[in-house]
Amino acid sequence: MPLIFLSRSPLSPTRLPAKDGRSDLRRAASQVFYPVLALPLLLFLGGCADAVTAPETNESAGLREVAPFPVGGAANVRFLNRDSTLTAFHGQHFSSITATNDMKMYAISPEPDTFVWEHADAMLAYADANDQRLFGHALIWHSGTPPWVSELAADPVALDSFMQHYITTYVGRYRGQVDGWDVVNEAMETVGGAYRETMWYNALGKDYLAKAFTYAHAADPDAVLFYNDFNIERDTAKLHGVLRMIEDLQAQGVPISGLGFQMHLRMDIPDETIAYCLKRGAETGLQIHLSEVDIIFNKHDDTQGGGVQLYDEVTEEMLAEQGEKYYRLAKMYREIVPPAQQYGITFWGFSDRYSWINGFFKLKDWPTILDRDLQPKPAYYGFRRALTE
Ligand code: XIL
Repeated sequence: MPLIFLSRSPLSPTRLPAKDGRSDLRRAASQVFYPVLALPLLLFLGGCADAVTAPETNESAGLREVAPFPVGGAANVRFLNRDSTLTAFHGQHFSSITATNDMKMYAISPEPDTFVWEHADAMLAYADANDQRLFGHALIWHSGTPPWVSELAADPVALDSFMQHYITTYVGRYRGQVDGWDVVNEAMETVGGAYRETMWYNALGKDYLAKAFTYAHAADPDAVLFYNDFNIERDTAKLHGVLRMIEDLQAQGVPISGLGFQMHLRMDIPDETIAYCLKRGAETGLQIHLSEVDIIFNKHDDTQGGGVQLYDEVTEEMLAEQGEKYYRLAKMYREIVPPAQQYGITFWGFSDRYSWINGFFKLKDWPTILDRDLQPKPAYYGFRRALTE
């Protein structure tokens, strides 16, 4: 299915009606729940001792309709244009979309004094056409920085001035239309709780974070502004470093409003550790986004591409276990993160055919909710069960 381009310009000055999935879900709920029918039904169920948790009856409804929080799928414009099965699944099941790569700095500003809006505009048009929330990923990220910007590091004043101009222009252009942003991505070392010595950090010190959030807030005061990182659901030293950084920002009055757990999980990461980390994250009072969920069987190397291929084939049993892991993850999110802080769960790719894991880590793995034939896996059903129970 080709991407549908809307006639309304993304520069439209009027703020759209709430584009967050919550409003979608409220609408969807009001369509399927008829109070008139509910009372006799409840009276009937009241007479049945075991009917306290009725099984899900609405199996054809999309995840977005049954979830109590926004559910998202990361995608690139290229995929949405190319694979109509994926597009149909995306529209049916997701109330939020994140661009996998199309909204990173190297895509938006590949050359000096250049902004390329084509793909970001297309993401917005797609989100609007499907009544989805558009989430912006990622403003400042060492791996997303194009070479010409890295060259500015020799002159910290020029780098800061570029950062301000970039964030102001970009966030300002989509003011009221991008619901939230990963303002800074992966500012901590891969392991442990120290700041990552990126070009941004080396040139501007840790203040680059405060500056980035401040510039983004000035450009769109209503946008939800996230710090996003990986392994903070398993490496408690890293999580504690992130929490110290957040405390530091909050103490300075920096407008941070969300914490993103990327959640590139592995099957053997203990649930207890994940639960502890989610609880500590939620205690910040920030919005909590599981922003890039996938669950692998093998081991990726977090310091670079590559990894350890432990399993060459996947069995029905392994897929069933993965389904339970997806179930428990969504369940923990529901139970540990207070509803008002549930910004949502976003899958980083949602089919084993196109998952980034296989190419980036050169692994054969099965990390997502759809198999290579784009059919729902136990992971899909496990995740769904946690939403509907
Ligand atoms: C990944 C994309 O999925 C790949 O296509 C790309 O080659 C590298 O980046 N953390 C992030 C994401 O914040 O932006 C990364 O996305 C995955 C890890």
